[in-house]
Amino acid sequence: MTEATESKTFLEMTRDRWSVRRFSDQQISAEHMDRILEAGRNAPSACNYQPQRILVLQSDEAIATVRGVTGWAFNAPTVLLVCSDLTESWKNPDGCDSAEVDATIALDHMMMEAWECGVGSTWVRGFDERVMRKAFNVPDTWKIVALMPMGYPSEQARPSRWHFKRKSNEDLYRFL
Ligand SMILES: Cc1cc2nc3c(=O)[nH]c(=O)nc-3n(C[C@H](O)[C@H](O)[C@H](O)COP(=O)(O)O)c2cc1C
Repeated sequence: MTEATESKTFLEMTRDRWSVRRFSDQQISAEHMDRILEAGRNAPSACNYQPQRILVLQSDEAIATVRGVTGWAFNAPTVLLVCSDLTESWKNPDGCDSAEVDATIALDHMMMEAWECGVGSTWVRGFDERVMRKAFNVPDTWKIVALMPMGYPSEQARPSRWHFKRKSNEDLYRFL
């Protein structure tokens, strides 16, 4: 994956996409960043409450801070810190809070739009939420959901062996 994949169908992109963990030094272009952020804004959310709150880490200071909290930020020039505002998310009467699901859907939209732009990324939960919260002064009312390091892949970037392991339809689906 070295260039934008706009001629591909969505299904082909879901087949091709893999987690990129080595990046070139080049920052993501403003055009690509706009498209990625728009995809996150277009995501569905429970009752359309849109509780996702996303810190876009790009400054030298912010990147150094996130790399100090976790090694899973890799050498990405941009890292999204994806949160969800618990005061704005929809709560089902059965107790289910949609906060994390809503932010997750937004992030998945962003990951796929990034791929379409030729921007690689990895979904990351390998960090201590308490340390991350302190590092970026994240309000207590926001749930921290994930990190997404992203950028143009380095020429040496390769999919991990996990990428090629997919469970079968029989494992995953039940037709009733
Ligand atoms: C909730 C979640 C947490 C993850 N956390 C990490 C992580 O901390 N570090 C990492 O390198 N990859 C992480 N991943 C990426 C997965 O390892 C990866 O998506 C999976 O192995 C399939 O590989 P592929 O994305 O290349 O197809 C995470 C993925 C998800 C969905």
